[in-house]
Amino acid sequence: MVRNFIDLWDITPDEGWRILLDTQDIKKGKDAQKYLLGRNVGLFFTKPSTRTRVSFEVAVNQLGGNAIYLAEQNLQISRGEDLKDTARTLSRYLDCIVIRTDSHRKLEEFAKHSTIPVINALTDMSHPCQVLSDVFTLYETFEEDLKNIKIAYVGDGNNVCNTWLVAAGLFGLNLFVAVPEGYEPSSFYYQAGEDLCRITGGSIYITTNPVEAVRDAHVVYTDVWVSMNQERSEEKLKAFMPYQVNAELLSHAKESVKVMHCLPANKGEEITEDVFERFADFIFTQAENRLYTQKALLKFIINNL
Ligand code: CP
Ligand code: NVA
Repeated sequence: MVRNFIDLWDITPDEGWRILLDTQDIKKGKDAQKYLLGRNVGLFFTKPSTRTRVSFEVAVNQLGGNAIYLAEQNLQISRGEDLKDTARTLSRYLDCIVIRTDSHRKLEEFAKHSTIPVINALTDMSHPCQVLSDVFTLYETFEEDLKNIKIAYVGDGNNVCNTWLVAAGLFGLNLFVAVPEGYEPSSFYYQAGEDLCRITGGSIYITTNPVEAVRDAHVVYTDVWVSMNQERSEEKLKAFMPYQVNAELLSHAKESVKVMHCLPANKGEEITEDVFERFADFIFTQAENRLYTQKALLKFIINNL
């Protein structure tokens, strides 16, 4: 059976934990097997990327496989070939495809016609590779306490926020989300997260009050206020200003708080430069961990291991 990784609910909690443990072994160099020897992985991107593209290419290469970057403008799809035929063609050459696109619906359409595994490398709705890796970063930091810490997501109820809701459910985490009114995450992802929380013991609390979310938090996470393909407006920036991760907001968190950002950052908006630099080491470890998590994910998805 072909396994897709379009959203975090495509894996079970047990599988999620197995991937995290595998990631740990891979990062420590305990598992250096060439799981992708002779395999070809396509990276079909319609949006820019620094971390996701490079970490996937390096992951595939280090696992002994071959990564092929497919920019939309170089494919016939840019001249009108439909997704269905693109999916059916690429399925005949590749062993797996990693896709970043502006529309989640397009990713689902591709997956419907693909006979090879499809991995979501970010859509307007979700970013599962990012958040899976972020949970690994927290696991390596907090270890067995992971399920007891308070995680606060502050900012836009966007693709990353949606995915955090599902992650709280999948891994049984305590997630507090603070978003301005009118910028709430998707109710569909919220429901999926809640359903999983009932199985795993996680909890999700959504508020418009950033101080309430951050109070005594062990982790404060933020992402840009204006995502790719979104309009920047003065009105939006004004609504988000109270949600800026700055020294004042952080004074309500635990003294030992860790700040996370999926990057790229827009310093001076969702995070101040001083806070960013104070936590830069942690934030770039977060970025580094994408490589190890995606190796474990590719091993799981392509080799069913
Ligand atoms: N965090 C993340 O996905 O970064 P890129 O957009 O650079 O891939
Ligand atoms: N929410 C951001 C995440 C970038 C990794 C975006 O979609 O642009």
